[in-house]
Amino acid sequence: MAIEVKVSSADAATGDAGIIAVLVFEGALEKQAHLSAIDEALGGAVIAHAKNVDYAGRENQVIEVQTLGRLTARRLLIVGLGPRRGMDDARLRHAVAVATRTAGTVPKLGIVLPEKIQGAQLRAAAEGAGLGAYRFLKYFTGDRLPKTQLAEVTFYRQGKFTAVESKALALGLQVANAVCIARDAVNEPPNVLTPDALAQLAKQVAKDGKLKIHVLDKKGIEKAGMKLHYAVGQGSTNEPRFVHMTYTPAKKAKKTIAFVGKGLTFDSGGLCIKPAPGMEEMKSDMAGAAAVIGLMAAIAAIRPDVEVHGILGAAENMPDGSAYRPSDVFGSLDGRTVEIINTDAEGRLVLADALAYARNLGPDLIVDIATLTGACVVALGKFYSAFYTADDKLARAFSLSADTAGESFWRMPIVDEMKEQLKSQIADLKHTGDRWGGSITAALFLREFVGEVPWIHCDVAAPVLGERARGMYPRGGTGHPVLTLLNFVETFK
Ligand code: BES
Ligand code: MN
Ligand code: ZN
Repeated sequence: MAIEVKVSSADAATGDAGIIAVLVFEGALEKQAHLSAIDEALGGAVIAHAKNVDYAGRENQVIEVQTLGRLTARRLLIVGLGPRRGMDDARLRHAVAVATRTAGTVPKLGIVLPEKIQGAQLRAAAEGAGLGAYRFLKYFTGDRLPKTQLAEVTFYRQGKFTAVESKALALGLQVANAVCIARDAVNEPPNVLTPDALAQLAKQVAKDGKLKIHVLDKKGIEKAGMKLHYAVGQGSTNEPRFVHMTYTPAKKAKKTIAFVGKGLTFDSGGLCIKPAPGMEEMKSDMAGAAAVIGLMAAIAAIRPDVEVHGILGAAENMPDGSAYRPSDVFGSLDGRTVEIINTDAEGRLVLADALAYARNLGPDLIVDIATLTGACVVALGKFYSAFYTADDKLARAFSLSADTAGESFWRMPIVDEMKEQLKSQIADLKHTGDRWGGSITAALFLREFVGEVPWIHCDVAAPVLGERARGMYPRGGTGHPVLTLLNFVETFK
């Protein structure tokens, strides 16, 4: 259920919210004017309690204070924003999301903002509210369904709210909803979210956002010459799909970016089948494609002056009598041949054809997003994604976008020396190398298909799915890295 966001310049203590969260800066609480009305209503108990527990207002530091029946609200949270200096969108979004998620199933939440939080910054606040309110309840019945749900978040702040601020709040909610499209798609089980269902979702988003869309089915993929994509999908009764969405700005665009997402709706490994423990996580192997769909939904709402293409390679990697096998050789959309070594390295094959397709569009930049390698998780752990690019300027811009979004990305090296691992004895290329630096060899394989087009490759294997809630991410599908990609598009020059 989507939440509503309201604003009020009244005293939060007199409002009708069942729970109030006050966002505070790090440092002395008694000097923070927006806290004093509530502190006074409680006879100074808030600041006294904060002192007793050495509360400092550090980033995402949360305490709960007893309201002893003296507020309409039954619960009161104090949520830290960190230092006043260098306050940014990412910290605000995080704090609001944490407050909102902590509110749980209480229908009305009041969030008290410091006066300093103003203007366009409120977009990040609304994003945080929408992201923190997210729950995936679709498959619960009876007692497993909560009896109430958060429906309304009111931001309290002294002084008038401006038209710019109302617009920022509305936009923030739209962005949060777009991120939640990606989360839903990742959470959806793979018996429901087949490649066709993923294409249908893209169609719905295109329809709602007035985007162009073109979908190829199994036959269409074969006819187009995407033989690698076809091969990966041939072992499943859930047939593959290729999707191309296009956003064209009203004014003629100066720049064009093509985003390419890996959309493996389930990755069993194929004939090189994965071990059973953890195989269930491979329902998230379409998170790259989900992020591209979420991004396109956000782009449709924001309508930036960049032309944006969203390309999805959707398939299910399954073992059966018609499955592709190690030692098979296939052509690709760009004409070169590939020898299959391990059928579990399927993502780079689907992407190879999709990247070649993207390159034919003549964009200024290609960005691919893929849950590509377990090796990436070994290298960076579960919280960081890797990105690769040969261009230092692009790398700086991308890092900055990730920081602004509050998402974790680390640049990895493209090691030319390792390319010899992809030499095949019987075809132009083989698609895997040795054990070491597996995320790098995957990137080297992809690079073969982008030609001279500037390119960023994102290996997002771990952060797309969370074992537990963390900051603005819920458990399960996180919506990573939609916000990073969106900021990158909005700031692209
Ligand atoms: N989808 C997996 C990568 C993955 C692993 C994502 C763990 C998220 C968590 C990918 O298709 C895969 O299986 N890669 C293989 C490549 C290997 C066979 C060269 C891997 O990483 O083991
Ligand atoms: Mn695989
Ligand atoms: Zn995979």
